[in-house]
Parts: sequence; C-alpha cells; structure tokens
Amino acid sequence: MDRGSKPAVLVTGGAGYIGAHTAKALHEQGYFPVVYDSLSSGFREAVGWGAFVHGDIRDAGALAEAIDAHGVKAVIHFAGLIEVGRSVVKPDLFWEHNVAGTTTLLSTMRERGVNRLVFSSSAAVYGQGGRGPLESIPEDAPKAPASPYGDTKLACEWMIEAQCRAYGLTAVALRYFNAAGADPSGLIGEAHEPETHLIPLAIAAALGDGKPLTVFGDDFDTPDGTCLRDYIHVCDLATAHVAALRADLPAGAFEAVNVGTGQGASVFEVVEAVGRAAGRPVPHSIGARRAGDPPSLVADPARARALLNWTPVCSSLEQIVVDALRWERNPAYGAGVRGRRAVEIENTTV
Ligand code: UFG
Repeated sequence: MDRGSKPAVLVTGGAGYIGAHTAKALHEQGYFPVVYDSLSSGFREAVGWGAFVHGDIRDAGALAEAIDAHGVKAVIHFAGLIEVGRSVVKPDLFWEHNVAGTTTLLSTMRERGVNRLVFSSSAAVYGQGGRGPLESIPEDAPKAPASPYGDTKLACEWMIEAQCRAYGLTAVALRYFNAAGADPSGLIGEAHEPETHLIPLAIAAALGDGKPLTVFGDDFDTPDGTCLRDYIHVCDLATAHVAALRADLPAGAFEAVNVGTGQGASVFEVVEAVGRAAGRPVPHSIGARRAGDPPSLVADPARARALLNWTPVCSSLEQIVVDALRWERNPAYGAGVRGRRAVEIENTTV
C-alpha cells in the first residue's frame, strides 16, 4: 500500500488483537500504519492495512530502519507479553520484553527524532489498591499491581513520564479495562493461545468448541457474587488510540487515561449475554476463585472524555458479544486462526 502524503505511525505489536484493530482505525482515519511485529503471538493474517515489518521490539537497529524507511512521525506501542498468569512464573521474561523493550523503543525514537507516543497500559496497574468493592477507579487511584505483568506496565509508565520531562517526548498511556469483541467485518478478532479470557471461552463453550466454562467464584462481595469487569469493545479501544495520538498536548506532556465504559458487568451477566446471542446456553459450573482476581474493576472514564474527547460507541455487552461471536463463527478466521496457531506452537516449541 502506498503511503502517499499520509502521516506514518509505527504500530509495535500491530499484528496482535488490539494492535490490528488500531491499525485498521488509523487507516480509516487517514494515517499510514506501519505494523512492527515479531509474530511471536500476533498473526500475519491480522495485518491488512499499511505496511508490515517483521521485527523484535528489543532490536534497536530494526526499529530505526523501520522508522527511517517509512518516515514515521509517531508510535503506538503495544508490543509486549500480556498473560498475567505467565508473568508470575516468568517475571524476568516480562521485564525483558515489556520494560527493556520499551527502553529500546524510547531511545530509538529519541535518536530518530520521533517525539509522540501512545502506550498500551492496563487497569492491571491498579490491582486491589485499597478501594471498596464497587468503587469506580479514577486515574489517581492508588497503584498496587497484583502481578509482575502489572508491575511492568507501571514501570513503563514511570519511565515514559520521566523521558517526557527530560527530553520533551509527548505521551499518553492508555489504561485499558477488559478489551473484548471483534471488528464487525469478522476479519479480525481475539485469538490468544492459550485463551484465558472470559468471553471467547464462554462462546467456545456455547458453540460446543471448547470445555464447559468454569466460573471462577460466586462468593465475591458483588451483587450476584461473581466478579464485575468493565468490558470495552476493541473498536472503541482502537478509536481511543487515534484520539490519544491527536490530542492537543504540549511538548513534554505525559497523560495516563483510563479506557473503559464506567459500567460493570458480572461473569453471570456475560454468560447470559453469550447464551442469548448464541441461541444456546453456556454450559458452566462454579469453581474456585482464580488467584489475583479483584472482585470489581470498573473505570471512571471522565478523563478520556475531557482530555481525548472520546466516548465509547459500541461497547454494550450485547454488541461486544454479537461481534465476538461473528468472528468466532468465521471458519477462515476466529477459531480457524486459533487452531492454526496452536499447531504452529506445537511444532515449534522447544
Ligand atoms: N473468568 C471466569 N472463568 C474463566 C475466565 C475468566 O470466571 O474461564 C472470570 C474472571 O475470574 C474475571 C472475569 O471472568 O472475573 C474476566 O476475566 P478475563 O480473564 O477475561 O479478564 P481479566 O479481568 O482477568 O483480565 C483483564 C485483562 C488483562 C489485565 C487484567 C487487569 O485481560 O490483560 O484485566 O486486571 F491484566
């Protein structure tokens, strides 16, 4: 695809779930996305807009080359490891990929004169943080990550903020709540391997493609006893990235912004919504609580509206589930991509 006069934006991790949706949103809003991805967990099939560069986030030379070759003006940085459970057993890997990788990216950006960044952070920076069970979370809430994954996201935020002050970088860290759903085209969607997230697992259970769902605890201090989460449609997340890129901020500014709806949905509500959309109930049983799961994680989304002029437009639970289901049912993508990936991993793991 020819860049023409479009501003080029490097999207590290752009072959992953949120990265691919953001690359599409960038394309739709007049940018030229340059996807930079090692394909260690992303999918080549998910790269359909702009250019693709196969590279590792820790490789300064390859990053510099991609920036120079495409005249990159800004970076949206998703590349990194995301599985919370794995971070507990392999914390060193998370610090190497997420923190050292971000250090390499920041110094390369500085060297090449790129001074605008949107960073993929997470509600994981908050952890339990001493709030009441149903309180929504503003950005200045106490930070108490419950996993090394959350630690690395918070460490990156600190590092980026310091470099904004020191070097005039302008950056927005977006703290996502629960990303869910898929592009309405059915061409891109969620495909993690292994899959641990509630909505794809509930869909697989309803369609008979997976095991019955285990609900992790029904004795939390919440209205129906199951955990509350703030599910945000991945297409709304994608537009939040474009809004963060465009926000009118002075040189040297650093802003951390929640990306959520402000509404919590319980695990039982999700199970019901998936059952309605699939036209068959989700087979499930109640199991033990999962270690590290806070009872409730719901964003206070006021800052995103004020600073980025962004509000979600497609994040009702119904819409999220209908779009996720369309993707899962597309045999060429959805479960098909996940199946191919599982085979690849089986063949290459040493
Ligand atoms: N759940 C089940 N059964 C399952 C899977 C999940 O009951 O088989 C429940 C969980 O206990 C939780 C809710 O469904 O209450 C959502 O769980 P997910 O695994 O889908 O998502 P998390 O809230 O655990 O994780 C999300 C992001 C992470 C981020 C974390 C921050 O996916 O990247 O929020 O806490 F780190």
